Parts: sequence; C-alpha cells; structure tokens
Amino acid sequence: MSVERITLESPCKVNWVLNILGSRPDGFHELESLMVPVPICDRLQFDPDPREFALTCSHPGLPVDGSNLVHKAATLFFAAAGLEARGSIHLEKRIPMAAGLGGGSGNAAVALLGLNQVFGKPLPMARLYELAAQLGSDVPFFLESGPALALGRGEKVERLPSFSALRGCALLLVHPGFGISTPWAYQALKRFPNAIHGTPGRAAASAAVMAGSSAARAAEELFNSLEAPALDKYPILSVYQRALQDAGALGALMSGSGSSTFGVFGSIDDAARARQRFVSRFSECWTEVARLSA
Ligand code: C5P
Repeated sequence: MSVERITLESPCKVNWVLNILGSRPDGFHELESLMVPVPICDRLQFDPDPREFALTCSHPGLPVDGSNLVHKAATLFFAAAGLEARGSIHLEKRIPMAAGLGGGSGNAAVALLGLNQVFGKPLPMARLYELAAQLGSDVPFFLESGPALALGRGEKVERLPSFSALRGCALLLVHPGFGISTPWAYQALKRFPNAIHGTPGRAAASAAVMAGSSAARAAEELFNSLEAPALDKYPILSVYQRALQDAGALGALMSGSGSSTFGVFGSIDDAARARQRFVSRFSECWTEVARLSA
C-alpha cells in the first residue's frame, strides 16, 4: 500500500446555465446545467499515517465532525474500500461557503480522489462516481476537470470540450457576506411557476453556442432559474449585477442557488479593473478574479 502525503487543489464552479425543468417525487428537482470550473481553490492535505481518522480545517466556523461533507466522503470511501478508517485530512478554505460555488461539493470529490490515491487506488472511477452522487448532486462534477453538462438532479455529468468562446476570459466573483440555503432556494421556486418549468434543451443549446462564438455571445446565454426566488428575497444581488455591468462586464449572473454573483470579462485586466470599481462601492463584499481555462 502506498503511504505518501499528498496535497490536492479543490476548485469551485459557476453555473453558466441552470435550467430547472420541474420538481420530482423524490424531493429533488430535475435540471440541466452548464457548469464551468473556476480555478479559485481550497486545498486538501492527506496524511495516511494517523491510526484514527481525523479532519481539521483552517476555518473555525466549519464543523469537522460527521456533518462535514469531507468527513462523510471519508466514511463512504473507507466502507466502500473495505478499509479501516485511518489517516488525516486538513482542509484549507478559501472558497466562500453557502455561496453557490460548489466549494463543499468540490471538497467532497477531492476527498474521495485523495483518499483513493493515498490508499493505493482500491476503488475504480466508476465507484467514486457512485459515492460522489450519494454525497450531493454537484459532487460528481468535481471528480474530473473541464466544463460539463449536468443532468438529472445534477449528478449525471457529460463532459464537454473547453469552450473556445471563453478562452482568455476572466470572471469577477462577488459574495455578499451572507449565504443562501440551497433547500430554501429550491423550495421557494414553488412560488415562481415560470421559473420551475424551464424549456428542456436550453443548456445543451448554450453549450453549442459557446463551442464556437465570441465571449459577448456566450454571455448572452447566462441563465439561472433560481434567480427568481433569490433576487426577490435579496434585491441587493440585482444591485451587484448592475454594478458589475456598469464596471464593464459582458454579462452577470447569480451562481447556483447563490449568494455569489459573477461578472464575465474579456480579459483578466478588465476583470481586475472592475474589481477595483466594485470594491470602492461595496467594500463589504468578498471579491476574487479568476482567469477561465474553460
Ligand atoms: O444534492 P444536494 O445535497 O446538494 O441538495 C441539497 C438540497 O437542494 C436538496 O435536499 C434539495 O432540497 C435541493 N435540490 C433540489 N434539486 C436538485 C438539487 C438540490 O431540490 N436537483
């Protein structure tokens, strides 16, 4: 068995398109999403040596007990691999939480990948995908890199080639300092009948556009059904979107179930200039610029 320490980056995502198609009998919603990875990363350090499994975290507000998705991922991994739980994981958080950026989901996926690596690859990728889907709808997306279509409740992932429209582009992400609960956002959709019944095929059509057009055209495809309840309850998010557009964004959208908003820019320099303008108006926000590799 290989017993080396490793450190893995855990990136986040934005939903370029999040199109909800309807509610399902199992309490989830059927959706189609165009997900784009964003290289703003948490970091997970794995040490297979300690005899009793332990999780530690740089963020004092995040519980490290069995309620933590990384802890849940470890429990599932050891059971599926038929191994005794051992080793340690240290999680360094940089991605804001309850932010619609998939930080926790990415951490869970990277925990599965990292544990599988340090314990000698007892599980094939197909099994990791099954465990990831048990952990959360967004977790399978983070098992491999690159953009993807996410279908079903989000767990069915179809990988896509990089979008030529986004080459050289950058995002400015802004987080308001409060989170939005994902179950709340989906429940609140009930009050917005137009938003809960999206037209099927929209995400794939957007992907086709983005495979071969300009960044400005790609920005026209931005769409998120969950904006209906979120912007209604938190109008400040619409103010942020307008501010991003005033600062030169080609388009702006809430990511996932919020509360993060992102603006799309043609270059990293444009995004950095917009960040200065944005922060001078809204100093309360967390902001970050990221170059897209998608
Ligand atoms: O799968 P995940 O744990 O991220 O889902 C959190 C919650 O978000 C679910 O319990 C459900 O309330 C809601 N959800 C949904 N439909 C989806 C994904 C999530 O209703 N496709």
